[in-house]
Formats: sequence, structure tokens, C-alpha cells
Amino acid sequence: MSHVFLIGSTGGVGSRLIPKLIAAGHTVTGLHRKAEQAETLQEAGAKPHLGDIIEMTAEDLTAASAGCDVLVFSAGAAGSGPERTTAIDGGGVIKMMDAARANGIKRVYLVSVFPDARRDAERKEGFEHYMRTKRMADNALAATDLDWVILRPGTLETEEGEGHVNAGLAIPYGTVARGNVAAFLAELIDRPEIRHEIIELTDGEVPVKEAVAARVRG
Ligand SMILES: NC(=O)c1ccc[n+]([C@@H]2O[C@H](COP(=O)([O-])OP(=O)(O)OC[C@H]3O[C@@H](n4cnc5c(N)ncnc54)[C@H](OP(=O)(O)O)[C@@H]3O)[C@@H](O)[C@H]2O)c1
Repeated sequence: MSHVFLIGSTGGVGSRLIPKLIAAGHTVTGLHRKAEQAETLQEAGAKPHLGDIIEMTAEDLTAASAGCDVLVFSAGAAGSGPERTTAIDGGGVIKMMDAARANGIKRVYLVSVFPDARRDAERKEGFEHYMRTKRMADNALAATDLDWVILRPGTLETEEGEGHVNAGLAIPYGTVARGNVAAFLAELIDRPEIRHEIIELTDGEVPVKEAVAARVRG
């Protein structure tokens, strides 16, 4: 069983991931930026760690995640402006990579974005900046020798989802329930043999467990 350090633990995906990891027997430490979130994290079974990824240094994140074997990044600026996007979706991932190396943690999971997101909508600079930032974070992580997996979900929906997805290297664009993203991540974390993969994810027809098993090579 793993000790998972979760960045974005109070978010739509992160908060759904915690109970799934706990149910699977893992231990979870959740980074949160508001003191009042600690109680909810504890109730969900996670150990809260107070910290803002913008203010934290890589050394702070290294200390916070010491003793963990898996790092998950599911934080995001959520449209709060380009500077925060750069600092969270970009800089936060770089700090996570540095913390992984410093702690000797090999396994890192990054929630990125589906490359086709809003490609047919009117271009807005804030969203284009978000897409570029996500891409740069993917590039940086994929260039490391860590055991990374980059998950690229389609447009997120608030639902729990039915537990059926479409996952693959290059699939048609679509939406995906946040609960299905969390279920897919939880299942991935139970399959450490899946690494050095970029996986696109939408809602679909295949049960999550089967969809993850299908990503095992060989
Ligand atoms: N929206 C979409 O359609 C879409 C599509 C594909 C991929 N994604 C990506 O999927 C991931 C998860 O999305 P989501 O909907 O679960 O996100 P979300 O609900 O907006 O949650 C974002 C998480 O990041 C945390 N966070 C924000 N700023 C922080 C900071 N400075 N320091 C520490 N934590 C901070 C939030 O904490 P608080 O609770 O304190 O705000 C929250 O836990 C994100 O990386 C997002 O970019 C989104």
C-alpha cells in the first residue's frame, strides 16, 4: 500500500479521489490552503497539510511530502487569472517534480488537460495561456526519469459518473465526470506497472477497472 501526497485535495477531482484511495488501503496526505478545510480532509480519512502551492518553495513541498511514495497533482487555478495559472498549473508541477527527486519518490501522477479542449470555441487568451501552461508542465514531467503518468481528461463535469470511460493514447474529445477521473486515478495508482504514459480520458462504455487494465503494455 502506498502513502499518497495529493496536491489539489479539496478540488472536484481530489476530494473524490481521497475516499477511493482510503478504501483501497492507501494512506493520503492532502495539501490544502485554507485552515478550515482540515476538518473535512480528516473526516474523509486524509491527513491534512496546510500550504499554498504558490507560496511554498520546492523545499517546503519536499518536507511536506517526505515519507510518501506517490505524488498526485490535481490542483488548478480554475480560471483565476494567468499569473495564478502560471504559478499553480505550471510552477506547482515543477515544485512537485523537485520534491519527488529530493525525496527519492519515483511515482508521480499529473492531471493535465485534453489537447482538443475548446478548440472549436472562440479563442480567449486566458484559456490559451492555461493550455500552454498545462502543455509546458506535461513537457517538463515527461522529460524526467520519474515514473510519471499524465492523465488528460476531457471537459470535467460535476457528476460522480457511472464508472464507465473511454481511455486511450488518442481518442475523440468529450466530457468526463469528475468522479470517473478520480476512479481512474485511484485504479492507476494500484497499477504501478503503468508508467511513462500519457492517457486521454472521457466518459465512455468501458468499466474503469478494465479501461486501466487495458493500458498495461505487454
Ligand atoms: N475544468 C475542466 O474542464 C478541466 C478539464 C481538464 C482538466 N482539468 C484539470 O483537472 C484538474 C482538477 O480539476 P478540478 O475540477 O478538480 O479542480 P478544482 O475543483 O478547481 O480544484 C482545484 C484544486 O486546487 C487547489 N488549489 C488552487 N490553488 C491552490 C494553491 N495556491 N495552493 C494549493 N492548492 C490550490 C484547490 O484548493 P481550494 O479548494 O482551496 O480552491 C483545489 O483543491 C486541474 O488541474 C484542472 O486544470 C480541468
